[in-house]
Amino acid sequence: MSSETTHPTHEDVLLDVRDIYTYFRTESGVVKALDGVSFDIRNNEAVGIVGESGCGKSVTAKSILRILPKNGEVVAGEVYYRGVNLLNLTEPQMRTVRGKEIALLFQDPLSSLNPVLSIREQMVDVISLHRGVDEEEAAEIAVKMMKAVGIPEAEQRIDDYPHQYSGGMRQRILIARALALEPRLLIADEPTTALDVTIQAQVLDIIQRMRKELGLSLMLITHNLGVVAENTDRIHVFYGGRVVESGPTRDIFKDPHHPYTIALLESIPSFVKGKGRLATIPGSVPQLINPPSGCRFHPRCKYMTEECKKRPPLEKIGKDRYVACFHVDKVLADRKKSS
Ligand SMILES: Nc1ncnc2c1ncn2[C@@H]1O[C@H](COP(=O)(O)OP(=O)(O)OP(=O)(O)O)[C@@H](O)[C@H]1O
Ligand code: SF4
Ligand SMILES: [Mg+2]
Repeated sequence: MSSETTHPTHEDVLLDVRDIYTYFRTESGVVKALDGVSFDIRNNEAVGIVGESGCGKSVTAKSILRILPKNGEVVAGEVYYRGVNLLNLTEPQMRTVRGKEIALLFQDPLSSLNPVLSIREQMVDVISLHRGVDEEEAAEIAVKMMKAVGIPEAEQRIDDYPHQYSGGMRQRILIARALALEPRLLIADEPTTALDVTIQAQVLDIIQRMRKELGLSLMLITHNLGVVAENTDRIHVFYGGRVVESGPTRDIFKDPHHPYTIALLESIPSFVKGKGRLATIPGSVPQLINPPSGCRFHPRCKYMTEECKKRPPLEKIGKDRYVACFHVDKVLADRKKSS
């Protein structure tokens, strides 16, 4: 397997995902879900992972934490967390990383909670295990965290069951439980998608506030670019199981270079001033059993040439900026003309 991606390195890196390939065995063939994904997350940084459905965002999170389903495997690459390749750890070592070092917050808070156990039962054991404290102290930490994420009457409500909480409150419980373990990195996979819009904003505010207070890094997975614009320092744009563009959030929004990033930004109504309707990206997301050769975006790209049937490397084009496209010059010249 040849690697053609150049890798961004940084002295303050916390998580360094290097050229990972994750495949799934299925009845219809091998699904090449991740095809050489590289990116990093630094200390105290909020990073957005964006891209259309099926581009490999959740598979990336599961590959990092090694919680892939049985038919999936990271077949190549490295995942360095504080300099240690997680893919080489034993399962017991990995269990101490999950939760204590890297916490994961899912989209659907209900499926992450056990309906027949009280919140106390679901928080105390895990806090006491990971923090090495007795049950009484663990309960105190739980209540303190519940208060910190804005759950009223936490002392009483800790004895309630998941169904006694609203969706937004359940997600707050999960944030409280995740952060009570004092992780350095929180991976939030579409943490607010299942919630209604006003609650979404509240939950994101809590995540941001807690992130700043506790000094942790955030990997925010979402297809919502508005959420990314407001909540992240840097973005890694995924397409068809690869990173196609990376850079500081502000720079990517102001000056996107990859034709897919441009199309993605144009799909936000407010970005295309005066259009008043949601633009859609022509073509469909690539099928990953027989993916397009070379640049996986080529069947949808108006700049496509013969050269694009080879794989474009992810190249550095400026400070912290990377793009995988053979025709960036043409793309930029075109954008200049039309602005
Ligand atoms: N258990 C599995 N077996 C086979 N293929 C899988 C499995 N899980 C994921 N995939 C495939 O891997 C690819 C990436 O999936 P992933 O769940 O990471 O997408 P995503 O970017 O998180 O999308 P969404 O925005 O819809 O959550 C998809 O093509 C998906 O079909
Ligand atoms: S490499 Fe070619 S097909 Fe891919 S985005 Fe660039 S111009 Fe389009
Ligand atoms: Mg997903």
